[in-house]
Amino acid sequence: MNPVAGKTKTEDRCSQLRCIGCGAIADHADQDFRCRNCRDLFEIIYPGWSGAAGAKASRVDGASLKQMWLKRKSSLLPSDTSGVWRFREMLPGLKPGTDPITLREGNTPLYDLPGCARAAGVNALLAKHQGMNPTASFKDTGMTVAASFARQEGFRWVACASTGNTSASMAAYAARGGLRSLVLIPEGKISWGKLSQSLDYGAVTCQLRTDFDGCVKVLSEVVKRMPVYLLNSVNPYRLEGQKTAAIELLEQLGWETPDHIIVPGGNLGNSSALGKALREMKDLGLSARLPKLSVIQAEGANPFVRSIREHGGKTLTPVEAETFATAIRIGNPASWKKALRVVDATAGTVEQVSEVEIALAKAEIGADGVGCEPASAVTLAGLKKLVKQGFVKAGETIVLILTGHGLKDPEFTLKFHRGDLFQGTKHENDAQLLAPHQLAPIVLDASVDAVLRTLEQFDHPAAER
Ligand code: F0G
Repeated sequence: MNPVAGKTKTEDRCSQLRCIGCGAIADHADQDFRCRNCRDLFEIIYPGWSGAAGAKASRVDGASLKQMWLKRKSSLLPSDTSGVWRFREMLPGLKPGTDPITLREGNTPLYDLPGCARAAGVNALLAKHQGMNPTASFKDTGMTVAASFARQEGFRWVACASTGNTSASMAAYAARGGLRSLVLIPEGKISWGKLSQSLDYGAVTCQLRTDFDGCVKVLSEVVKRMPVYLLNSVNPYRLEGQKTAAIELLEQLGWETPDHIIVPGGNLGNSSALGKALREMKDLGLSARLPKLSVIQAEGANPFVRSIREHGGKTLTPVEAETFATAIRIGNPASWKKALRVVDATAGTVEQVSEVEIALAKAEIGADGVGCEPASAVTLAGLKKLVKQGFVKAGETIVLILTGHGLKDPEFTLKFHRGDLFQGTKHENDAQLLAPHQLAPIVLDASVDAVLRTLEQFDHPAAER
């Protein structure tokens, strides 16, 4: 491993790093991406945009940007076919002549979920499916930007701690960009699908005998000692890429702002990123108003919900996280202060949902023919609660952000349908309500009659689901 300068730099003149704690402005971030003065996180700002006058005076003009972004859809250039770099005026710039590392991320569909809308008691429901990215999670939209900056800065190694999706994504982008990658994951606590992705893409994959938060701790020491580029979401370049999902969403909605956007919360990078884009779009006149952005956590991994409910968002006490939605099994979320700002600024809220509520919501999303991984399903489970509380009204425009693909965690789905997901757990009794949604595979002799008898059994009104 060749040492390189242990710093990362914003090369372009349009963006700067600003500490969210003390407001310090920096050209360089140390490898841990924390402010030297106060240890808080950085965000990327674009000084030329500030204020309405600034926006007008800068190169950024709302109407022509929208036109240009649309026009790029007919281009064949990699940076235009990427659903992230297509919006590059909203991103920190790479050095002239530098190609981004791209797998044509973004460009994800917006689906309607009629069955889920009925289940939640709303007139209509939309889902932006970020699981339809190249490595099947929303992480790709951030990784294309941050990995490109890692390569531009001359790093040979990139690294992350992960519950499985960041690592899959990082490993893929590192491989595409000719970089080596180091993955730290909690042993036995991520899905096989995600683990197999990181192996396939050639990452050095370490399963540590700890949880996600323990992996983060170890990695934060590793980056101090070796010239590896940190690709967790404390890296503000990741969040810049991830924010483009909100831009793409508004474009898909004809630049009409929805009333609600509902996001799963783990390390809280994604809610921070989407909220940043929503605020920037409003400041730049690309959108007329802010939607309410609400964050949903699993009951067993709910430090953000507790921070807001118990401490008014003033402090966050880490929890020992436990949930079958392993992607969001996180007790000490790095970006909680950024996410709090978003919830406050958009007048959103937070909610928590039980394991059984998550499993039911995942089945309901699947029954609409869309499918997602368990962590994504917290959005529908949370929406149901927000509707009951009156926070979301039946006639409002609501968008769920589905963060991961259904095939990310097939073990969860199989156990669900076989009826043994909650066997021997404290949720066993509550889980009985899931029975009507379970459809286990049926083992039969290879006989036509056996198949026809099965078909007849199901082709009966009583069996209609
Ligand atoms: N949904 C999925 C599918 C995820 O993988 C994650 C986070 C989240 C939601 C939560 O997003 O952390 O930005 O609040 N996964 C990370 C990982 C932590 O390592 O893959 P967040």
